[in-house]
Amino acid sequence: MTNVVFVASEAAPFAKTGGLADVAGSLPKALIKDGVNVKVYMPLHIKIAPSYRDQMTFIGYTTVNMGWRTQYVGLLTLNYDGVDYYFIDNEFYFKRHALYGDGDDAERYIFFSKAVLAALKMTDVKPDIIHTNDWHTASINVLLDFYSKHDDFYKGIKTVFTIHNLRYQGVFDPYIMGDLLNLPYDYYNEEGLKFYDNINILKAGIVYSDHITTVSKSYAHEITYPYFGENLDGVINKYKDKLTGIVNGIDYDVYSPLTDTNIPVNFDFKTVSNKKEIKKHVQAKFGLPIDGDIPMISMVTRLADMKGLDLVEHILAELLELDIQLVILGTGEHHFENLFRYYQYRFPHKLSARIYFDQYESHAIYAGSDLFLMPSLFEPCGLSQLIALRYGTIPIVRQIGGLKDTVTPYNKFTGEGNGFGFMNYNAHELLFTIKDALDYYHKPDIWLNLMEQAMAADNSWEKSSKEYIKVYETVLGREI
Ligand code: GLC
Repeated sequence: MTNVVFVASEAAPFAKTGGLADVAGSLPKALIKDGVNVKVYMPLHIKIAPSYRDQMTFIGYTTVNMGWRTQYVGLLTLNYDGVDYYFIDNEFYFKRHALYGDGDDAERYIFFSKAVLAALKMTDVKPDIIHTNDWHTASINVLLDFYSKHDDFYKGIKTVFTIHNLRYQGVFDPYIMGDLLNLPYDYYNEEGLKFYDNINILKAGIVYSDHITTVSKSYAHEITYPYFGENLDGVINKYKDKLTGIVNGIDYDVYSPLTDTNIPVNFDFKTVSNKKEIKKHVQAKFGLPIDGDIPMISMVTRLADMKGLDLVEHILAELLELDIQLVILGTGEHHFENLFRYYQYRFPHKLSARIYFDQYESHAIYAGSDLFLMPSLFEPCGLSQLIALRYGTIPIVRQIGGLKDTVTPYNKFTGEGNGFGFMNYNAHELLFTIKDALDYYHKPDIWLNLMEQAMAADNSWEKSSKEYIKVYETVLGREI
């Protein structure tokens, strides 16, 4: 049996701000199905619902040193959906209004990383592999490198590091080297953690892991170039022999148009006309004119600039002149929140801006819309387009990263394709692509064909889980 400890700063359904939580909440389940013994470690964020907390079992506690301070590490566990989750408890660090963004994020997540390593030792769980995700857990990679030189317990544990988004790197003042990481300054050089005159924790994940993965093949290739490399393309190139792109999947039990209890009517391809009923339900709920035939375009997204919202901003007035309805669900940068509020005020019959997040509404939007917009500036994988496809909602994407790998633009000569794509980061290229898609929307045969191909795409974890297992086999040097 191969034991993997999967570490993430968030996991659905416990705490979620983005796609990382969806992956941490669904990939382990798929790996377990394939015979790997995966345990998931995450912080006991205060926002985890009492209904989950009440079911957790307290295992024990230990402490870790953060500079001169000694901090409490509580360990709790809960089996959810067949997966054992372990929660690191420390109210000083995790009783916060948000998962990220406080001034002491470096300290909070270095603490978490140390706490996971301490908890493993306390419970005498020595995994074959520790699988870390994004900068928040990447200190584990370098800490393990150091600990294994002095402590037999940590010797021989292999590591895999997954980059979900290269933009967030955890770049901090070098004082954290001694004060928080408690590592010797040997690690502070160009080959180690040094990044310009700072420390880069994501770089620790790249340098000190046995293997790196990122969440699509195209993104793995793109980040070796400066345009997508976020100033780390040089380091990535150096380590590209241990870099593999594995596209994300989604949990087909959660996102299933045939069984989803969050939508008013279920459907599969044979009953795809039910989508119109869901559209009307969404229109009624959101105060839009009720019309099953008008094309509904949606975006369910963090309102962050990487999502291509400046392109949408540029063409929004022109877009809303068309005979369409637009539905936006999500929160984020105030500029974009206010932009959509303002346009809703100007075009109340065309635009519904839901500036919050609601899981239940998101399913109805995915299922009830006809088109889903994702014009990202960069996109390591993207999960929303996969959900849209599953519900027969046709994605319009910029053809980069994971979007390129999962959406095939409609080819009018062969009839192949399950979406629409454009290449340049250009607002009118986006608008023309939308107009093109709308023309096809009004050709029912072609549209039906597109929906069929969208719903037939397999984006479950089944294939990707096997690719992770191959990576695990590579680092272990044996079969699983
Ligand atoms: C990040 C990326 C997104 C990816 C997700 C899960 O949120 O921006 O593209 O799908 O992580 O890997």
